[in-house]
Amino acid sequence: MPRHVPRGVCKAILTGEHAVVYGHEALATALPLGFAATLDHPPQGPLLAVEVAATSAEAVPFRGALGDGSMLGQAIEKIAAALGVSRQRPLLVRVVGDVPLGRGLGSSAALAAVIADALAVAHGLELPVDELARAARAGDEVFHGRASGIDAEAAVRRELGLFSRTAGWRRVEAAPLHLLVVDSGEPRSTADVVARVGARRAADELGVARLMAAMGALAQPAATAARTGDLAALGRVFDDNHRLLQELGVSTPGLDAAVVAAREAGALGAKLTGAGGGGVAIALMADRAALTRAHAAVVAGGRKGWALTCP
Ligand code: MEV
Repeated sequence: MPRHVPRGVCKAILTGEHAVVYGHEALATALPLGFAATLDHPPQGPLLAVEVAATSAEAVPFRGALGDGSMLGQAIEKIAAALGVSRQRPLLVRVVGDVPLGRGLGSSAALAAVIADALAVAHGLELPVDELARAARAGDEVFHGRASGIDAEAAVRRELGLFSRTAGWRRVEAAPLHLLVVDSGEPRSTADVVARVGARRAADELGVARLMAAMGALAQPAATAARTGDLAALGRVFDDNHRLLQELGVSTPGLDAAVVAAREAGALGAKLTGAGGGGVAIALMADRAALTRAHAAVVAGGRKGWALTCP
C-alpha cells in the first residue's frame, strides 16, 4: 500500500465569508495549493516540533514546538489535545508547500490540517475526516480567534462544499472550476478584520445583520450554479457578493482594483475572498484557455496571480 503523505490544502470562499461567522451559509472550494509533511524522529529535542520550509522565494522558514510559547506551538498543543495524543519521544514534522501565507486563502488552516494529519500518521490513527477536521479547527482557532471553521473543513476535505456552523460541511458535486487568484499586494490579518466587523455589528446590529443575511442567501444559488455548470450565474454571485462585502467595509482600493483587472481580463465574475482588508481576489473563468489568457494579462499588468483549476 502506498504510504500516506500528510496533507492540508488552501481554500477559496466563493461566497459567504464573514456571514459564515454569524451562522449563515457559505460556499468554498479547496485549492490545488497546500502543504505536505514528512515525519522525523530525532534522538533529542522537543517532544513535538513543526518546521515549515519557506513557502515562496519571498517567505522565510519558521518553526514551533510544544511549550515554546509561539502561536504555532500553541496550535500544535490544541491539535494534539483534540486528537488525544501525547508523545513519549521527540517527533519533528517537516512541512513544505507552495502556499501564499496570510492572503485570505486559508494558509493557517492548511497548516493546522497537515499537522493534524501528520500526528495521526505518527500515532497510527486512521481517523474519519470529521475527526481530522475537528483537530484542524482547534489549531486554526489559535491563529484566527473567532473562526467559523470553514477553512479547516476545506483544508481537510479537499473538495467543493457548502458550510454553516449548524449544518457543517456538505460536499457539492461539480465540474472543476477555473479560478484566477489576483493579489492586491496589501497586507492583512483575518483576526483583525473579523474583529473590525464585530465592532461594526455592535454599532449597527440591524444594518450588518441585513448584509450578512443577503450574503448567506447567495450560497445555495451559488451551489446550484456550480452543480449545473451555470458559470454565468455563478459569476453573477461573485459580483453580488463583492458588492455586499464592499458595503460591509472589508474591501480595499487594492482589492477593488484586482477585481476590475480580473473582469477586464474576461472574468465571468470577481470578488475579494477570505476576510478582506487586503489579500487576494478571485475571478471565475469560463474554461482553462480563458484562465490561461487572463492570468497572462494580469501578470503582464504587473500583478501577482495564480491560475488554479479547483478543487
Ligand atoms: C474565512 O476565511 C474568512 C472569514 O469568514 C472568517 C471565518 O469564517 O472564520 C472572515
